[in-house]
Amino acid sequence: MPAIQLQTEIPGPRSRALMARRQAAVPRGPFHATPIFASRAHGAVLEDVDGNRLLDFAGGIGCLNVGHTDASVVAAAGAQLGRLTHGCFHVTPYESYVRLAERLNALAPGPAPKKTMFVNSGAEAVENAVKIARAATGRGAVLAFEDGFHGRTLLALSLTSKVHPYKVGFGPFVPGVQRAPYAYCYRCAYKLTYPACGLHCVDALEDLFKRHVAAEEVAAVIVEPVLGEGGFVVPPGDYLPRLRALTERHGILLIADEVQTGFGRTGKLWAVEHSGVVPDILIAAKSIAGGLPLGAITGRADVMDAAGPGGLGGTFGGNPVALEAALAVLERFDDGALYARAERIGQAFRERAGRWAASVPLLGDVRGVGAMWALELVKDRASKAPAKDETAAVAKAAYERGLLTITAGTYGNVLRTLMPLVISDDELRVGLDVLEAALVSVAGSH
Ligand SMILES: Cc1ncc(COP(=O)(O)O)c(C=O)c1O
Repeated sequence: MPAIQLQTEIPGPRSRALMARRQAAVPRGPFHATPIFASRAHGAVLEDVDGNRLLDFAGGIGCLNVGHTDASVVAAAGAQLGRLTHGCFHVTPYESYVRLAERLNALAPGPAPKKTMFVNSGAEAVENAVKIARAATGRGAVLAFEDGFHGRTLLALSLTSKVHPYKVGFGPFVPGVQRAPYAYCYRCAYKLTYPACGLHCVDALEDLFKRHVAAEEVAAVIVEPVLGEGGFVVPPGDYLPRLRALTERHGILLIADEVQTGFGRTGKLWAVEHSGVVPDILIAAKSIAGGLPLGAITGRADVMDAAGPGGLGGTFGGNPVALEAALAVLERFDDGALYARAERIGQAFRERAGRWAASVPLLGDVRGVGAMWALELVKDRASKAPAKDETAAVAKAAYERGLLTITAGTYGNVLRTLMPLVISDDELRVGLDVLEAALVSVAGSH
């Protein structure tokens, strides 16, 4: 079966009709990267309501590392649906909650005993991590990074740094959030060059503690090990260790937001494993449950126990169906094959993108780790002026040819790849061919 099979132009007539109904019935706020209505999906292929088969490099924004409708995930979730759909952990707890917590505790970096609690989304995991950090330290402030994304609920949004479209019109935000530049070396906020800079962006935090907030009032630093929505920015290898040392110096907790980087995307279960850094709290969501809504907060047991009984939770947090799906997802990772796939995908992407970089001046930067790769598009390489419209045009040219992609970056000029790790070599090759054709079509008219 070919990976891409188009029966109609994209979007087809059924998608267009549904879009008209959507415009009338659903507010503008919930965006969509494509005008294509999904009908079914398996592995790395999605079928739309017009019967077109599209290759998926978006994975529902990184939620499908094990692939769409993975057989073991569907079986586990389906069986649980008929047993206990919801009981509420706060009323009558159930074993799967404890079992998944035990597994995630064992898999979290660092030797200290861990505890885990569950919520419904990445944003909710962020909210709870900050609450726990405040309870554990008795401090109020939180340091987050420029170009970071932590979600859309009000505290998570206060930590998120992209103004358009996320923050504009929604303030005022939660007080106590401090912000500093991330190690975004391609666009260094200090106009320095690594490694000559000596990681000035970390040293500058000491300055921030003098000018803006006392270190002893900071509960936590929250950091994405690789920026997700911010454009798949991979910091230098010594960045996270230096940040860890700084937080330890000041008794500040380190929260690793692995919502997008986690569950094998970077070739390891957690992206922090590449650096050897042990965070105090690690949060996960997205791919944890193979497409079902689930978020997890795992942390040092003494930190996690700082919040009192009833202080944390929520009606649906740790839903039994999502938990069984997550346990099945973890089993899919047990033999290590998906981590190897992530590396293989990254290698194939890097090889192809290296060739594009030689012939397509629009490509300013190609970067990534594991299967988390991105292209940053610029109007010209000298000025690095972000090529936002061109990036949107490439994404459109791609989906019109049957490849789903999504963009990222504070300037909207990054194309990121979040394909299911189960994508076959053939599918990957076809997807990269389409991406190349889309790039060339836009670069040609640039
Ligand atoms: C790093 C990171 N944190 C938090 C979130 C928020 O997750 P959710 O959309 O599930 O609320 C996201 C979502 O993209 C994310 O990438």
